[in-house]
Amino acid sequence: MNFAATIAKACPGLKLTTEPSVLESHGRDWSDLEGGAPLAVAFPNSGEEVRQLVLAARQTATPLVPSGGRTGLSGGAVSLGGEVVVSFERMRRIGDYDPVDRTVTVEPGAITQSVQQFALEQGLYYPVSFASEGSSHIGGNIATNAGGIRVLRYGLTRDRVAGVKVVTGRGDLLDCNRGLVKNASGYDLRHLFIGSEGTLGLVVEATLRLVDPPPPSRVMLLAVQDMNSVMNVFRRLQSSLALSAFEFLDDRSMFHVRRAYQLPGPLEEDSPWYVITEFDCDGEADEQAALACFESCLERGWVSDGVVSQSERQIAELWRYREGIAESVAPLAPYKNDLSVRISRVPEFLSRLQGLLSEHYPAYDVLRYGHIGDGNIHLNILRPEHVSRQEFKDRCEDISQKCYELTAQLGGSASAEHGIGIIKAPWLGTTRSEAEIEMMRGIKNVFDPDGIMNPGKIFERPG
Ligand code: MLT
Ligand code: ZN
Repeated sequence: MNFAATIAKACPGLKLTTEPSVLESHGRDWSDLEGGAPLAVAFPNSGEEVRQLVLAARQTATPLVPSGGRTGLSGGAVSLGGEVVVSFERMRRIGDYDPVDRTVTVEPGAITQSVQQFALEQGLYYPVSFASEGSSHIGGNIATNAGGIRVLRYGLTRDRVAGVKVVTGRGDLLDCNRGLVKNASGYDLRHLFIGSEGTLGLVVEATLRLVDPPPPSRVMLLAVQDMNSVMNVFRRLQSSLALSAFEFLDDRSMFHVRRAYQLPGPLEEDSPWYVITEFDCDGEADEQAALACFESCLERGWVSDGVVSQSERQIAELWRYREGIAESVAPLAPYKNDLSVRISRVPEFLSRLQGLLSEHYPAYDVLRYGHIGDGNIHLNILRPEHVSRQEFKDRCEDISQKCYELTAQLGGSASAEHGIGIIKAPWLGTTRSEAEIEMMRGIKNVFDPDGIMNPGKIFERPG
């Protein structure tokens, strides 16, 4: 029996479609990577239906690709051809809120922004926040250990997951950690699934920890003269203000975001670098502290100008300069890098990265931006019109090789928050050792002995 017949027998009510437009839309993600057509797309309604899908996949040797909001940038949700895509669109329930535990239990298809909204309605806060939160699913966030702009204060998705139910590639349902705060009973399997990009199993439920809502805040946008000053400003601000985000962007990022959204310049004059930071501001004393920080940065020559939000509307307007970058260049199909180093190594990393880019690729339009307060730098390289797609790709891969070598020298990571997916799979070994990769393959083998779970992701396909 083939997959369709097997699953129809095991789970007669399950929706499975081969409609070409659905195969097309659900076989790709925001990475725009060309994959291949999936065999079908399944829309399970429950954890049990997901389990039946995995069992049917095992029985018929059919690979599965999990599909959330498909906002990933490394091709983790792209079909390579012939897989069954498992969409979690029908598993969106947000419920089982516990005010004592301060947790909420959700299905994997719950939209990140809906969880944030739900938390606010309980007088609490779900702090994982990033530009695609209106489309991304919690299951996908868990699969990639999503980060975003508030990692500085609240950590990553990993830090919010109090429990996770998964169906492994063997078809077992595991209930990992069950919302416990303390649990020293052996390996914490929950953490293996977080960031595993669907290669070990499928998340069917997650229990998320909520936190107190932050106090009122302000956003400050600063014009910074050089890269070293970005980190000097960070240290200065961090010593006096309670920062919840500290982001940077360069002049090219500012240029593209302004052009795409027809935004006015945030300051009177353009600057080579900008910082956007959000800090708690609950009255006169906090305002004075912010002003004093700004003035001391000005005196030291690190900053030449700046603006502080005066309203909620201005907070949103200032964030637009940072959060709009990725979307502003998306139509130009940039070549993306998502690198991280320890925060203390950021100044050296940035300056060596700069040396590398200007020595080897002076003619390329490179956007540098990111979550500098947690050591995460995004590089987006744009293809000059006169360079063919193939030549561009080859050149970018040269750049990547050099960037990854530098990242490895500084003890960093080839993927900070976008995952490895298909796109970064050839580079996995640049910042993970052979021994680590061997262990990872061994773990995959335990949870997914038939290799049906999101094949070709994280690990390159043989041949
Ligand atoms: C961001 O920080 O804007 C996102 O990670 C998306 C991106 O880097 O393109
Ligand atoms: Zn990012």
